[in-house]
Amino acid sequence: MKADILLGLQWGDEGKGKIVDVLAPDYDIVARFQGGPNAGHTLEFDGHKHILRSIPSGVFAKGAITNIIGNGVVLDPVLFRKEAAELEADGVDLHEILRISKKAHLIMPTHRLLDAAGEAQMGAGKIGTTGKGIGPTYSDKISRHGLRVGDILDDNFDTIYAAARDRHLRTLKNMDAVIDTEALAKNEQEWLDALEYLRSFNLSDTEHYVNKALSNGNSILCEGAQGTMLDIDFGSYPFVTSSNTVAAGACTGLGLAPSRIGKVYGIFKAYCTRVGSGPFPTELFDATGEEIRSIGHEYGAVTGRERRCGWLDLVALRYSVMINGATDLILMKSDVLDTFDTIKVCTAYRLPDGTVTSDFPYCVGHNAEGKADVEPIYDELPGWLTDISAARRESELPQAFRDYIAYIEKHVGVPVSIISVGPDREETIVRS
Ligand code: GDP
Ligand code: IMO
Ligand code: MG
Repeated sequence: MKADILLGLQWGDEGKGKIVDVLAPDYDIVARFQGGPNAGHTLEFDGHKHILRSIPSGVFAKGAITNIIGNGVVLDPVLFRKEAAELEADGVDLHEILRISKKAHLIMPTHRLLDAAGEAQMGAGKIGTTGKGIGPTYSDKISRHGLRVGDILDDNFDTIYAAARDRHLRTLKNMDAVIDTEALAKNEQEWLDALEYLRSFNLSDTEHYVNKALSNGNSILCEGAQGTMLDIDFGSYPFVTSSNTVAAGACTGLGLAPSRIGKVYGIFKAYCTRVGSGPFPTELFDATGEEIRSIGHEYGAVTGRERRCGWLDLVALRYSVMINGATDLILMKSDVLDTFDTIKVCTAYRLPDGTVTSDFPYCVGHNAEGKADVEPIYDELPGWLTDISAARRESELPQAFRDYIAYIEKHVGVPVSIISVGPDREETIVRS
């Protein structure tokens, strides 16, 4: 058996959680391979909405599905306890179905302080992080100072923890950060208490588990977080997250060899959104952008921050498809464009020196207002002006919308296999 991957092709929030939940019943295992509580994955079914952050989106699937938090993930025990306890209260037997890699790294309270201090230092040039301590935790991992989930089983954990905290405090002092020692002491106590709960889970070497599972004929769906344009290597650096969000991240984040990978589902919205700072070539600063935000409810699942909105960017999309080797596309949220007469799609950029390119460039600059220094060149397609949210079969979709899908497939060179027409699990069309 091969492991399939589902990941975002844009700047995150493409609808990964929804589609993992839809596909999960076809798999034996769902595994998160990177990111942490910076993610917010929304699932809707039976009139209820659930937002998952560190826990895989396979937890609601009926049947004996195992969910894995892989070694590539960074875990905050306090946020994990909150998320897990809510799921258990909803009747999900998480202790039975969840396995956590002992090699996943721990987000400490001082990582969050470092995240905030780093952003404060950058002033107007800040990344606009989620403030969850993601960057400092991955920095510690790479500089070989990190604490891992397996460390909490060590009798000397308190000493290991104190050494790491003290190192962070020295760094914070050098950054002239003001530390509320009372609040920190409270957060530390809460964090240490949450470790007790974390210890009650199956903490193991999940790389053995996933490889044996594949060898025994079981199937795996690897769930990405964030999106390709936020990847640490290929995203719009430095306005990125601190992990490899691309397909290669599933290999390192779970311990799977490239030869184990099967399909790569690349998920994207019919338009683009971005949260936080950084260049966004097709961003709309006008009423159309407002309209997309309002109809698409484009506000952060966790932070509630306004998402910046813009037209679909095929230059960035083709780049993402190339980097990930996407075999299947999943088109989300087209229903948001139901009332638009004309739909624009960016096919190339005019660079500041006047040359036109359809290859994503090394660096897209942007001014203080966030406006990118490349000019998008658009094709204009006729809108379908039909409510598509009730469609459950491809044959029920209007011709103009089917033409729009064919246009994307032609320009990207990969078939669209799933079309989502609303947030609910049921509002999904799987093409044959
Ligand atoms: P993720 O981080 O990739 O899992 O995506 P988010 O959950 O952060 O954001 C996607 C948002 O769009 C959520 O509010 C979903 O409920 C919603 N959504 C997903 N698919 C569709 C769709 O096809 N149409 C509409 N209108 N909303 C959708
Ligand atoms: P999901 O999985 C959208 C963005 C932040 C910021 C940058 C770095 O729900 O798609 P970080 O806290 O990771 O250091 O922030 O990345 N970002 C996301 N944007 N969706 C996400 O996750 C994101 N996770 C991080 O807004 O610009
Ligand atoms: Mg999200």
